[in-house]
Amino acid sequence: MISKKLETAFNKQINEETFSAYLYLSMAAYFHSLSLDGFAAWMKMQAQEEMSHAMKLFNFLDELGGRISLLTVKEPEKNWKSPLAAFTAVSRHEQYITGCIDGLYQLAGSEKCNPAQIMLQWFIKEQVEEESTAAKIVLRLNQIKDNANGLWMLDRELGARQHKT
Ligand code: FEO
Repeated sequence: MISKKLETAFNKQINEETFSAYLYLSMAAYFHSLSLDGFAAWMKMQAQEEMSHAMKLFNFLDELGGRISLLTVKEPEKNWKSPLAAFTAVSRHEQYITGCIDGLYQLAGSEKCNPAQIMLQWFIKEQVEEESTAAKIVLRLNQIKDNANGLWMLDRELGARQHKT
């Protein structure tokens, strides 16, 4: 059985992951508006990954006998001033999500919920990857600056992203 406090925190994290999907889908729309379809494809895949994170938490909360309660998903931003600005926002957002996961993990510890702690270790590792990927793309975009050729090449590269196996 899960404590009410932890149940509330899990429900909040389901909302954070769903918002992440919404944010990245909004970024996909932004990149389509710039005809950067590779960037857009990357964002759409990222949005799917975020929904899979939300579902992982959803299913786990149900298995633990918790009551799932879906919260309002806030409206994401729609425009960024450049691809670099969008990916800088991704990087900041992932740092924020890491903080949420860390807080949830600590709460699971203080509520003495071992299954939740074990499950959340997957998310802790996932966040290392998410932050690292975003940071690398920010670095590439900083190197590219206004070079149209460089942007086009990165667009092709990001468009080749594969689903995780
Ligand atoms: Fe589910 Fe990008 O954190």
